[in-house]
Amino acid sequence: MLTDFPLFPESASTMAPRVDGLYFFLVGLTVFFSLLIASLIVAFAIKYRRRTPDSVGVPVHGALALEVAWSVIPLGITLVIFAWGASVFFAMSSPPEEAINVYVVGKQWMWKFQHLNGQREVNELHVPVGRPVKLIMTSEDVIHDLFVPAFRVKADVLPGRYTHVWFEATKPGRYRLFCAEYCGTQHSGMGAQVVALGPPEYQDWLSAAAGGSMASAGQRLFADMACSTCHRKGEDGRGPVLNGLYGSTVRLRGGRSAVVDEAYLRESIVNPSSRLTEGFQPVMPAYQGLVTEEGLSELVEYIKSLEPAQPIALSMAPTPGGSERTAQNVEP
Ligand code: CUA
Repeated sequence: MLTDFPLFPESASTMAPRVDGLYFFLVGLTVFFSLLIASLIVAFAIKYRRRTPDSVGVPVHGALALEVAWSVIPLGITLVIFAWGASVFFAMSSPPEEAINVYVVGKQWMWKFQHLNGQREVNELHVPVGRPVKLIMTSEDVIHDLFVPAFRVKADVLPGRYTHVWFEATKPGRYRLFCAEYCGTQHSGMGAQVVALGPPEYQDWLSAAAGGSMASAGQRLFADMACSTCHRKGEDGRGPVLNGLYGSTVRLRGGRSAVVDEAYLRESIVNPSSRLTEGFQPVMPAYQGLVTEEGLSELVEYIKSLEPAQPIALSMAPTPGGSERTAQNVEP
């Protein structure tokens, strides 16, 4: 009856053994000291028990060696925990460059997933085994939290900004995905399944995609909203040219600078004046509420796909880059 109630979650990602290692170390440490202290209490209670009714204890005047020992040993142990914990934390918060990006939108009470090739899923997420996957997540309403116990990853999903987690599944299977932040009456039902497939099966699943890529959907949206009226080359371009912008560093008004990542692009669409590029006027309207979260992620993917425009003289040279981005140079 308890077969569906494992005491410990399955381990199915590259991060899982690292998290478990730290967890078991902490449990082992706690058990060791709990047993040590409990048995010393019992042993001392017996050893120093009152033997005659009129016996008096010997006064204690401190012991330097003992005090140094009980300060230095715990300090050393906590520093080990700190260094170990920090290394696992950094590994968890640095997605590898070559990770596959998947956009996630949390909503009362469902999970929506968008793959770069345009595949969309609800409450089911297909990922390949043996390749890192980065989830770029946001919420349409309240705070949710994405949690896949088998992968040992968990992160808040917040309205109005992108957060991310990454994982690399190590074996095919179906794994439960939970919402781990109370988000309303159906919170407990806000679950999904992660389907980890072997590379050939994943390719089959991907190629069954209907419609175009996220970047091409973003391109249509870009045209529909007439963004190129302002974002174009030339004297009359009132907004920055977007080709090659992703990954670069821009100077902002007020002297600061910003690295152009997904979060910066999203923010610049919904609230352009918050971090305005130097040399431009705050003339762009805020698109907050005018584009859905799916639309925003498509626009972000479209802007990411815009390779730097190549000078005519170099047109015989091979195309630089060669990344997985879908190159779509669109000049108005
Ligand atoms: Cu979404 Cu709890």
